Amino acid sequence: MSLKPEDCILVIFGASGDLTKRKLIPGLYTLCKRNLLPDHFAVLGIGRTPMLDEDFQLKMRQALDDFGNHAEGDPTATDRFIHQLHYQQLDTKNREDYSRVEKRLDEIGKKMDKRGNVLFYLSTPPSLFEPIVEGISCQGLNRSKNGSEWRRLLVEKPFGYDIGTAVELNANLHKSFSEDQIYRIDHYLGKETVQNLLVLRFGNHIYEPLWNRNYIDRVEVTAAESIGVEDRGGYYEGAGALRDMFQNHLLQVVGMIAMEPPAVFGARSVRNETIKVFESFRPIEIDDVPQQVIRGQYTESTIHGKHAAGYRDAQGVSENSRTETYVAVKFFIDNWRWAGVPFYVRTGKRLPTRVTEAVIHFKQTPHTLFGYRENRGAQRGGQRGAQRGGQRGGFAGHDATTGPGQDSNQLIMRIQPDEGILMKFNLKLPGEGFSMKTVNMDFHYSELSNVYTPEAYERLLLDSMSGDATLYARSDAVEACWRFVDPILRSWERDPDIALHGYPAGTWGPEIAGALFADPHLDWRYPCRNLSNDGEFCEL
Ligand code: BG6
Repeated sequence: MSLKPEDCILVIFGASGDLTKRKLIPGLYTLCKRNLLPDHFAVLGIGRTPMLDEDFQLKMRQALDDFGNHAEGDPTATDRFIHQLHYQQLDTKNREDYSRVEKRLDEIGKKMDKRGNVLFYLSTPPSLFEPIVEGISCQGLNRSKNGSEWRRLLVEKPFGYDIGTAVELNANLHKSFSEDQIYRIDHYLGKETVQNLLVLRFGNHIYEPLWNRNYIDRVEVTAAESIGVEDRGGYYEGAGALRDMFQNHLLQVVGMIAMEPPAVFGARSVRNETIKVFESFRPIEIDDVPQQVIRGQYTESTIHGKHAAGYRDAQGVSENSRTETYVAVKFFIDNWRWAGVPFYVRTGKRLPTRVTEAVIHFKQTPHTLFGYRENRGAQRGGQRGAQRGGQRGGFAGHDATTGPGQDSNQLIMRIQPDEGILMKFNLKLPGEGFSMKTVNMDFHYSELSNVYTPEAYERLLLDSMSGDATLYARSDAVEACWRFVDPILRSWERDPDIALHGYPAGTWGPEIAGALFADPHLDWRYPCRNLSNDGEFCEL
């Protein structure tokens, strides 16, 4: 069976933007090299800047040099790919201009020997989503002329700014495109390791019996970034970590961890299950926000002897900014499987390292028979201060008699980098007595040396061309996630005195985030870049 999608034209609005050159064109090129693009395929880039097809092609060739794995490409194949790229200048707010899009589509369709299927990709600021969709539909481009060809709409986040704007955006998109035609991109769902959460859970028999409130103590999700806001201060000021990462990427990851097994593996079933998770989130009452949500903002510091600027020094950021660059949230999923199990989810910029992972903390054994002989300070509560501060430190460790209890088993699903799975369990320390040691059993994706791991955008572009919406966010899911974060946003707006904790760039965020754990012996995991290095002090 061919994996190739049907012939189509991909129309990219925002073609002169960053995403096109960094992700979309390199992603398409890799699909082309892997022989996964349709037999007849073309791109029509649309932007404000006047440009000829040849200029656009030159720019995209440069983008492949800069961001694609171009070097290994066969030059003739690269030329063939580049010649499939076209460009049209357009004032996206002027409806009359859309007749030019139609004209170009006809022209390209004839050249390809097909007229056919069209995929519109909105890679523009969200303020342009509605005018573009109106322009497309005024020209009748949202429906196929003979009914046998498809029209699809791919939309980049943000899908709204809060629940009100998200509902409005969905309603406006639905005026021109049915839900089945709309593919909302959450690039986290395109990540191999996020998809692997489903295979790990539902492709194995050993985890599922334990995957519930009877065996799981808590779930932790971390998305740490070492970079700051760089040159995106203008956008980020109006967004913040809650909108930028938590409402979308991280809640989608939670959806995969927490969902029930779908009836079949397909867009409808999978998305029917994730929406149930989102609808089961226990609402955070406005008054409970300070107890369940910690926000922070990075401040200037020195990392490895070099000055690191604070968030407020970034371009486009107000010197009194109250925008959070870190957020940690504790919440519950009120359903049969997860009743009473806390979920701890955090994300932040300018943390010590770039790492995204989910950790299932299993419950302790009901009765403790064995103890530890070694110093376990690095693995437990003692780790808090030093790892948070991003530096080494000495600790008094626990031993068999003083330790607060047995280390529970953990399953760590590493999303990036050093993608893989790590299971932590206890075994007997060789020698006299019955002392335990916590050890790792791990798998690293890099060990699958002959298997290519696609970039998120490659997978998502391919799926949208193939009409598979499994890894795309449905309107009801987007709205449910906004509904969940809405009280947090409202509480911050209503009460600006709710603390915004400063944390020095290069540290693990506000220390007080540890207080989300009611048990003082518990803390976040402080992961290293290398998955299996955890529990040791790592160089940050
Ligand atoms: C984007 C956010 O959606 O995801 C960025 O807007 C963030 O602020 C990025 O840096 C993180 O993605 P990744 O794939 O690098 O984890």
